[in-house]
Formats: sequence, C-alpha cells, structure tokens
Amino acid sequence: MNRRNFLRQGLGITSGLITAAYVPFTLAETAGQTGISKPNYYLNDFNLPALDEGQTIQGKQVFKLALQQGETRILADKTTKTIGINQDFLAPVLRMKKGQVVRMEVTNNLSETAALHWHGMVLPASEDGGPHQAIQPSKTWVAEWKILNEASTLFYHSHTHNQTGQQVWRGLGGQMQIVDEDQDAELGIPHEYGIDDYPVILMDRAFDESGEFYYSNTRMNKMLGMHGDVMLVNGVANSVLKPKKTLVRLRLHNASNARFYDLVFSDNRAFQLIASDGGLLERSYSLRQIRLAPGERAEIIVDLSDRKPITLKTIKGYGNLSMRMGMMGGNSASDLDQDFNLLHIDPSQSERSAAFKTTQLVTLPDWSKVEVAQTRQMNLEMQMGPRMMFGSGGFTINGQAMNMNVINEVAHANTFELWELHNPSMMHHPFHVHNTQFRVLDRNGQAPYPWERGYKDVVTVHKDETIRILFPTGPYRDELIPYMYHCHILEHEDAGMMGQFTVV
Ligand code: C2O
Ligand code: CU
Ligand code: CU
Repeated sequence: MNRRNFLRQGLGITSGLITAAYVPFTLAETAGQTGISKPNYYLNDFNLPALDEGQTIQGKQVFKLALQQGETRILADKTTKTIGINQDFLAPVLRMKKGQVVRMEVTNNLSETAALHWHGMVLPASEDGGPHQAIQPSKTWVAEWKILNEASTLFYHSHTHNQTGQQVWRGLGGQMQIVDEDQDAELGIPHEYGIDDYPVILMDRAFDESGEFYYSNTRMNKMLGMHGDVMLVNGVANSVLKPKKTLVRLRLHNASNARFYDLVFSDNRAFQLIASDGGLLERSYSLRQIRLAPGERAEIIVDLSDRKPITLKTIKGYGNLSMRMGMMGGNSASDLDQDFNLLHIDPSQSERSAAFKTTQLVTLPDWSKVEVAQTRQMNLEMQMGPRMMFGSGGFTINGQAMNMNVINEVAHANTFELWELHNPSMMHHPFHVHNTQFRVLDRNGQAPYPWERGYKDVVTVHKDETIRILFPTGPYRDELIPYMYHCHILEHEDAGMMGQFTVV
C-alpha cells in the first residue's frame, strides 16, 4: 500500500485534499474557543519513551530523576515551553520488578515547588510523593520502598498542592512498569519493550496562538477539567507506530488531566484485554471498545497479522464534555467532544509473530470472605451556585474540601476496607485511592466492566452512581503522614475534591 492510501484509510479520509501539510488529526471546529489556536500537523514517527531501569547500587535499584524545564516541538511550526523528568517534556518509562528495593532520587531543577507521586504503588506514606512530600527548588527528595505490587502499568506524576493540574499539563508525568518477563513468556504475552510491547500514553493539550500551552482557570475549565483539541501519544501528535511484530501489547494509559476516552480501532477490530490498572486479569476479554478515565490504564493485545493499517481512535459522546449544561455557555465543550484519531498503526513491515491464544491468565486472591474492618461512605460533591462561582471551589468529598491540616479518615494497617462511592453531583468523577490496589465489587449492584475486574486504583463513578470497592490497607503505619484519595480529574483534585487518610 502506498503512503497516500495509508493516509486515506488510516485517517478515514475518503476524498480530496491530501497534501504535505494538512489537518487530519482533529476535525474539531475550534473557532469558538478563545485563546486556542488550531494547529497543523504532519505525520510523525511514534515516540518510544526512553527506558530507565535504574542502576543496581548496593542491592537497590537507583533511579536519578531530575525535574527540568525545556522547549519542545509539539506543533509543526512552533515550539512550546515544557517541563519534564530527565528530558524536556514528559518522562522516561521506569521499569522495575516485584521484590526490588527502589530508590528514587528526585532533584527539582524547576524554579517552583513540586512533588512526584508513584500512582498505584503500595508504599510507606512518607515515600508516596503526595503534597506532603513537596520538593523545593534545587532540593533532592529521596524515596525508597520495596515493590510489593504485581506486574502492572503504573503512573508517576506531579502531585503538588494545588498545582497538580498545571504541572502535569506542562509535562510532569510518565509511565512506570513493573514487569515479570517469565510470567509473560509463559502466557505468550508480548513483553519486549519497543519490539512488541509499547507504552501508549494518551494526553490532550490546548495551545495558544503563540504555540504555548493554554491552561486557564476559568469556571468552565475548573468544572469540566482542562481539555484540548491536540491529541498526543507519548507526547507526539499524529504519530505512526510501525511495530516490529504483528502481535503487540499496548499499555494504554490515560494521563490526561480530564478527558475520558472511548477507545476503538478504526476498523472496529477486536482486541484482547489482559490487564487493568494493577496488573493481569484472571482471564482475557475480547473487546472492541474500552473506556478509560483520567488516571486509568489497561493493557491490550492487538493482532495485526492481516497487516492492515489501523488507527486507534476515541469517539465522542462519553465523559463530562458530552454533558451539555446550559450554564456552561457557548459550545466550546461540544467542540472539544469529537472523534479524534490518536495513533496510527502500520504493520506492513512487521515480522509475523504467533497468535495470542491464552484465555486464563492469573488467579487473583479470593476476597469474598475477608473480614471488613471498616465501611466508609464517600460522597463526591460539587456545590453549584455562589461557592463555586466565587473562587472557593465547591468541590468536596463528604462536604469537606481538601485541607492539608485535616486527616479525614484513619484506617488500620493490614485490614480490609469497603468504601461506597456515591456521586450525587452533575459530572462523572474518576475516584483514586493511594497506597492500594482495590477490587470493584459492583457498580449500582451490577458487575463491573471487564476492565474493572482485576486490580484497580482508579474507578469512574458516573453521575448518580454508587460503586463499592474493597481493598487492603497495606502493611505500613504512620500516625502523622497521610495518603490521599481524590477525583483524578486534576482540576477537581486541585479545587478540593480530595481527602486524606492515615494508616495506623
Ligand atoms: Cu495519580 Cu493522587 O494521584
Ligand atoms: Cu495516586
Ligand atoms: Cu471530579
């Protein structure tokens, strides 16, 4: 197939206009959005993030991570001021193994306070990298813990008090992978980084006329969370992955501030879902569509042996953007709620690999009979009206906005807790709990979605839903330093939809 046909099929363009510079990536009409300019794209090569496996020093895996600023060519014709970890924008993929002791040496070379959180990890509260572990400019913070989590795809990102949204938007986030190559080999799961195992970190960004990131705290952006019309995979727009093999594992990772993705392939092909946030599922599921909220990850295996070029897309109509609210004014929200192409995949040169046939994966521990030490209710609330309008937020959990000096809940180590998540607000909220991988017991009394049937650390609580989650509190005690639980729409988190719990 020639390039021209690839473009046509991959982009779903049926006629006319394909030139060197075109605007295929978003068909969104962005005219209504003040301050947001409409970018031009060329096709780009897939960006495989640098892989950092740390250095073994005295029995520990040591990772040296520097928060830094830089400039990045994201748009075709302009550069953007960005921040990143050991690079100008975003971060290397950190790879580690269960049982290793890792030591993270995080140096803040930015001119602002930052914090770096290991999302999904079970670890002592002092090492968690939440807002209580702020790193001042030019200081180094060291976190050390033993990896207790199962093999999984995790997330590390800024968690600076009140600044998480804008710091992640500018680039402080990346993927962590806990790998178990022997287990993968046994199950026939692709596991060679950059050969048949690829991170697919999804982000949307908005830009202003001069090519800088557009991030603003308008009431609408606070309510909906920040969205953009430029879709990035591993920091690059409109890219083409030419996988080395015809059977690939994609580690789908929604690292967006607020966008919910409703993912499909352009030819609607089926893929195998093998893992949720916290690792492998008990069995694989053949799906054609998967929905990921901010913070969620899922691993899928895609068979490309027919060598057809395809495009990973998100389709409109799901998530907070699609909740048309009269009070939002204008139609900019619906302009951002469009079908977008995310990643083109061209397997024409890929080496043929054996099909994936395994359906039984791992056995997860049976928690159906564990004793629940504590049941808690979590009401995710948005107060509308004056409190919201005039700056103080109005985003709360159980009526309380995040306060660094208030411990909202106290749990006991080595016990199980059952949390009932309620959403009486007018939007969907992805709820996240630190220091644990939970199981979703049910959604409104029904079975959870396939991608929620394993270990999870984020679960979407749609408007008016009730979801029950069950989790172990872990082995670590600390009377003073709390962990966080919060909405993973980063603007909601920054606006106060977050609470703190200690494990004692
Ligand atoms: Cu992904 Cu509290 O964070
Ligand atoms: Cu987290
Ligand atoms: Cu929220």
